[in-house]
Amino acid sequence: MLIDGHGRKVDYLRVSVTERCNFRCQYCMPDKPFSWKPKENLLSFEELFLFIKAAMDEGITKVRITGGEPLLREDLDKFVAMIYNHNPAVDLALTTNGYLLKQTAQKLKDAGLKRLNISLDSLKPQVAKEIAQKEVLGSVLEGIEESLRVGLGVKINMVPLKGVNEDEIVDLLDFAKERGIEIRFIEYMENAMANHQIKGLLGKEILEKIKEKYRIEKIGRQGSSPSFAYKLEDGYRFGLIDPHKHDFCESCNRIRLTAEGFLIPCLYFDEAMSIKDAVQKGDIEAAVEVLRQVLRDKPEKNRWNEDENELSNRAFYETGG
Ligand code: 5AD
Ligand code: SF4
Repeated sequence: MLIDGHGRKVDYLRVSVTERCNFRCQYCMPDKPFSWKPKENLLSFEELFLFIKAAMDEGITKVRITGGEPLLREDLDKFVAMIYNHNPAVDLALTTNGYLLKQTAQKLKDAGLKRLNISLDSLKPQVAKEIAQKEVLGSVLEGIEESLRVGLGVKINMVPLKGVNEDEIVDLLDFAKERGIEIRFIEYMENAMANHQIKGLLGKEILEKIKEKYRIEKIGRQGSSPSFAYKLEDGYRFGLIDPHKHDFCESCNRIRLTAEGFLIPCLYFDEAMSIKDAVQKGDIEAAVEVLRQVLRDKPEKNRWNEDENELSNRAFYETGG
């Protein structure tokens, strides 16, 4: 079992396999051209897996693959299979923008993937295009249907933005409800990379919109998840992720690994330690030592709200949110 310096059990590892993305979501990336880190810096699947395997043996039971857009990495299903085959009981999930799922969902399912979180911010082609800065809606919807068809668990993520897609909160809730899948509304998290003009809705504003159509009941936080669950009268459940309240650090159970091998204890801290040398030498003990060090140093609380004007410089596309 892995316990951090504040007594929290850590059993959840998020692994970003690439910072690259085929979208340019306004809340995530700068719209100006910018350069990616060179591809040579990326760890191979074998190198990433060496660490993941060690971490699983130490007590990680849940692994989520993120990006950027993880499906941009060729043969991602082979990476999924490596993790699954090491321990088929692992709770193995993927976060994606859904654009490439139509071609990949079946292979991912066959490789052992269990669940997907797919971003869907609008059901209007023009609005989806405005947010992602690319024509995306048709492919994403096909990707969602294909994922359901092959039997993957699906959750939808929506980030409501003022004056952009806030009028679609209920439509997206109904879209998910009709398909029997959960939707989670995420408060926009201000960050230095994003378009500075955009403004997100706060959790309570999101709930107000839903209350215009439905009566809702509070359920509560589900385990260590940052998502707070609510229920409609007919029993349908949805989630709200409201980092502005930042009351989930207490039960935080997660650490993050970037595609370049940095192990990050907390999304809102710039501290990170590299496992690159260790895995490139095949030195599992050294990798586990870095893991233990990062856990000892994991901050108790994020510093995010201490200074309202200080934006997190960490790019969400590097750490997978
Ligand atoms: N604020 C809130 N959510 C974000 N995501 C990415 N950037 C942000 C942000 N700044 C979400 C996306 C996606 C997931 C990977 O993270 O909506 O669903
Ligand atoms: Fe890409 Fe996801 Fe960032 Fe959008 S939010 S640009 S899909 S990494």
